[in-house]
Amino acid sequence: MERPVVRVGVIGGGFVGTALVQLLLDPTRHAAIVDGATAPLELVGVAVRDTSKPHPGIEAALLTSDVDGLLSSDLDVLVEVAGGIEPVRTYVETALKLGVSVVTANKALIAESGTELAQLAHVNGADLFYEAAVGGAIPILRALRSSLAGERINRVMGIVNGTTNYILTKMTSEGSDYASALAEAQALGYAEADPSADVEGFDVAAKVQILSTLAFGTRLSGDEVAREGITGIRAVDVEYALRSGYVIKMLGVAERVGDTGVSRRAHPAMVPARHPLASVNGPMNAVFVEGVKSGPLMWLGQGAGGEPTATAVLGDVLDAARNRVSGRHDVPFSGDTSLHYVPAGELSSVFYLSIDVLDRPGVLSDVAGIFGRHDVSIRSMDQSGFGDEARLSFLTHRALSSDVFATVEELKASASVESVGACIRVIDGVFE
Ligand code: NDP
Ligand code: HSE
Repeated sequence: MERPVVRVGVIGGGFVGTALVQLLLDPTRHAAIVDGATAPLELVGVAVRDTSKPHPGIEAALLTSDVDGLLSSDLDVLVEVAGGIEPVRTYVETALKLGVSVVTANKALIAESGTELAQLAHVNGADLFYEAAVGGAIPILRALRSSLAGERINRVMGIVNGTTNYILTKMTSEGSDYASALAEAQALGYAEADPSADVEGFDVAAKVQILSTLAFGTRLSGDEVAREGITGIRAVDVEYALRSGYVIKMLGVAERVGDTGVSRRAHPAMVPARHPLASVNGPMNAVFVEGVKSGPLMWLGQGAGGEPTATAVLGDVLDAARNRVSGRHDVPFSGDTSLHYVPAGELSSVFYLSIDVLDRPGVLSDVAGIFGRHDVSIRSMDQSGFGDEARLSFLTHRALSSDVFATVEELKASASVESVGACIRVIDGVFE
């Protein structure tokens, strides 16, 4: 019997879309793709905003700016690699209502509307897959959804943003300045269209929300994630970390707190140089999962960039195609949603604080007094510079985060303090 053809439409012909088109049309991969999909795939078209712009790597005949036309061309699978929320959410809803399966790399969309979209897919007999939304080429969502489905997970922690890891690596190993490292990450295709999504931690927060769903059964969209970005980190902080045996990394964390709580956070942290995450550099991502019976597990791979991301998108396309051919769809993941969100302020950590101060008598006792009033005990203090350049760097003992945040607020208001620079959590051990 002749095998059916699975019709695939793509919205987005940028870094990821172009790499996907090239994979789909690569004659050397044809047999593997047909095997994976259990049917030949037909690429119907690639929608972009402006077809008059050059789109090297995509045949002109495939390009269209008519998304509605593409959506109404009897698709089996729609790939959304355009990014942003609207009009893309409407396109995805339209496809799902038509019973078309959707594959997306758009973590912002999933973190905002994933619960509703997954339900819409289910009631219309379609799939909604988003493996590429977290960790680029790393198959971490499949691992959590399938291999670890029966395991009790205590924590998922990782480097899940290539752009910030690239910037911090450049600042650490080459002494690059922040702006030039960001410009390189953009040129290499790692950064979001609006890079503040990367450097302000929104991208990591969205990924943490998705990881939390698969690890703990919390909602896919709309839940809270504590978020801090890397824009306040300066060369002096990077140097201090190196001198003290740490490197600064942007982390995403979803972890159980006691039996009833879950914490979700996106923030930079000082990681000990001996920690496996410390040597994950450039656009590489790594995700640690700590399960009760499995023990610690770690995945490492290219977390950003067109080609690595397109491999994850293609895997989802093949899964969705296979489901179409066999007339089934995956039931959306749902788990124990009884865990409540624990705000970041209720957790304790060691902190590093860097403070620019006036270099005059009494300043140190003023500053130390502020720490003391908020019950934050100082582990070590380092002064560098003189006069206008004077800077104090503190490591605290383990302290309640809300007390440290209150200390920062009072320091900012103090006449002895010119400005508070970084306030960064310090990871003490390998499995802290
Ligand atoms: P790009 O900015 O390189 O490409 C976006 C593409 O989408 C462009 O071709 C653009 O058209 C098209 N587009 C945007 N809006 C519309 C619209 N309304 N209608 C039709 N076409 C549209 O983005 P990336 O390829 O880097 O990223 C795409 C998605 O993949 C994003 O959601 C991103 O978060 C996600 N992602 C990206 C990764 C990466 O490393 N780059 C990794 C993992 C996920 P035009 O060319 O005409 O401007
Ligand atoms: N902007 C994202 C990053 C793309 O830098 O990791 C991958 O999700």
